[in-house]
Amino acid sequence: MELRRPARTELDAAGRLCVAAYEDFFTGAEDFYRDRVADVALRDREAEVWVAADGTTLLGCVTFCPPGSPWRELARDATEGEFRMLSVHPDVRGRGVGQALAALCEARAREHGATRMVLSSLPTMAAAHRVYARLGYTRCPHRDWDPVPGVHLIAFTKELT
Ligand SMILES: CC(C)(COP(=O)(O)OP(=O)(O)OC[C@H]1O[C@@H](n2cnc3c(N)ncnc32)[C@H](O)[C@@H]1OP(=O)(O)O)[C@@H](O)C(=O)NCCC(=O)NCCS
Repeated sequence: MELRRPARTELDAAGRLCVAAYEDFFTGAEDFYRDRVADVALRDREAEVWVAADGTTLLGCVTFCPPGSPWRELARDATEGEFRMLSVHPDVRGRGVGQALAALCEARAREHGATRMVLSSLPTMAAAHRVYARLGYTRCPHRDWDPVPGVHLIAFTKELT
């Protein structure tokens, strides 16, 4: 498995992968979110998209949100790093792809001077929460938030130092 930036020709496939990964989490209230998850090209322009790939086969995708990116939701300043839309194709889960992409984002955050990671997640994303726990993230309830009425996100944090 290789972790790398996607080629321009891979952005649509990466978007389809993200939608497949998130399929269980789209609800009526979040239908608008499907298009947002699919638009990897926009995230690659406005943030920093990374993929996990086996040759030309995409396995996973994540959006690292550098300081100044409009994709940052929880991170307050450059001391906090954040990634979003961690996605692994359902057929290749449980092999460490998600953990590798999350760890890569921590490395990118460190390179930008971050000393802490902050993330938000749906309460039902149990597999993601196992990845975060294994990497040393803890819950940060005072930073839980509701992006739109009826959607509650729970926050996680990890000190990088
Ligand atoms: C969260 C996600 C990225 C994890 O990807 P992954 O490559 O399976 O991650 P890892 O292999 O590093 O670890 C996965 C964990 O889930 C378990 N798991 C989840 N689905 C699994 C499956 N189909 N087969 C085997 N194990 C699975 C693994 O055993 C492991 O937990 P454990 O170490 O406590 O046993 C992936 O499940 C996903 O895309 N989920 C939907 C989107 C999502 O929730 N994103 C997070 C947004 S905050």
